[in-house]
Amino acid sequence: MKTILVAGGAGYIGSHMVALLVKRGYEVVVADNLRTGHWQAVKGARKMYVGDLRDGAFLHQIFTENKIDGVINFAAFSLVGESVTNPLKYYGNNVEGAVSLLSAMQAHGVDKIVFSSTAAAYGEPEKQPIEEGDRTEPTNPYGATKLAIENMLKWCDCAYNIRYVALRYFNAAGSDTEAGIGEDHNPESHLIPLVMKTALGQRDHIGIFGEDYPTPDGTCVRDYIHVKDLAEAHLLALEYLERGGSSDVFNLGNGAGYSVREIIETARRITGKEIKAVVEPRRGGDPSVLIASNKKAAEVLGWKPVLGLDQIVSDAWAWHSGHPNGYEG
Ligand code: UFG
Repeated sequence: MKTILVAGGAGYIGSHMVALLVKRGYEVVVADNLRTGHWQAVKGARKMYVGDLRDGAFLHQIFTENKIDGVINFAAFSLVGESVTNPLKYYGNNVEGAVSLLSAMQAHGVDKIVFSSTAAAYGEPEKQPIEEGDRTEPTNPYGATKLAIENMLKWCDCAYNIRYVALRYFNAAGSDTEAGIGEDHNPESHLIPLVMKTALGQRDHIGIFGEDYPTPDGTCVRDYIHVKDLAEAHLLALEYLERGGSSDVFNLGNGAGYSVREIIETARRITGKEIKAVVEPRRGGDPSVLIASNKKAAEVLGWKPVLGLDQIVSDAWAWHSGHPNGYEG
């Protein structure tokens, strides 16, 4: 049986990965400092180590106590706005954490890693849908740290033969209702969970950040992808590396875009709640449209997202209505 180390396994996407790995018969070891993750989100792991990736002794302990076959790294700070005001926090945690993790992998002879990257690596897109070979010019430090790690991975492959798959997520949303886990950020800044909190009456309204974008209804268009489809892609990436696949980068998105207004409309239909929306000024740094080409992931990994927007919103609603206070409730 294969043992996978999931760094950041107590976070939103990481915990969904843990649940899927366990379901598919993998042994899972989690490392998380619980700065943004929740211990309650970790279901079925063999062991959870609480500590920071930058702590070499902490990683040494994990790699000596467990025979790790592969690593998936989700551990990162991910608030775009905060990264602009505090870039060193992001370089320190995200990049230093990855340096430390790769050093431990090298020292312990672990040669496969799946890395959680982001559409923010592209910055303002040249065209739609975005392809992996398009220009990467991040417009915020969060995206810059992820791109820096992608580049570091390239050099680590050359020097140490550590093979990697970097997955650039578009807008992750939804939840695994069977595993009883979901999205619980504090503070929450993402559209779908904020719409859910509005439907629950925890907020008076949802702000629509700008309606003068060059899109059909004037609001920003994003490519929403179910977190369970994302987790499946990581598993395929892991299997691809196990088969001897060479290092590569893939977009993970549905290949379809929905506007902010369409998301709110879908949520009204699915929740049956009114959900008051108020147009507010644009949020700085938001590109008008971000849609992934997922052709490469389909061709090389055999990945096909199967859960559409209605499933994303209904699973998000199941989580939020069942856990109005997140993991604390
Ligand atoms: N939005 C609102 N009101 C809100 C919150 C968001 O109108 O209260 C809008 C945003 O302006 C944006 C869309 O809803 O147009 C989606 O916003 P999110 O904050 O949910 O997601 P982003 O597209 O800004 O960010 C996502 C990931 C980031 C990643 C980025 C890549 O969450 O981690 O895509 O560009 F960096």
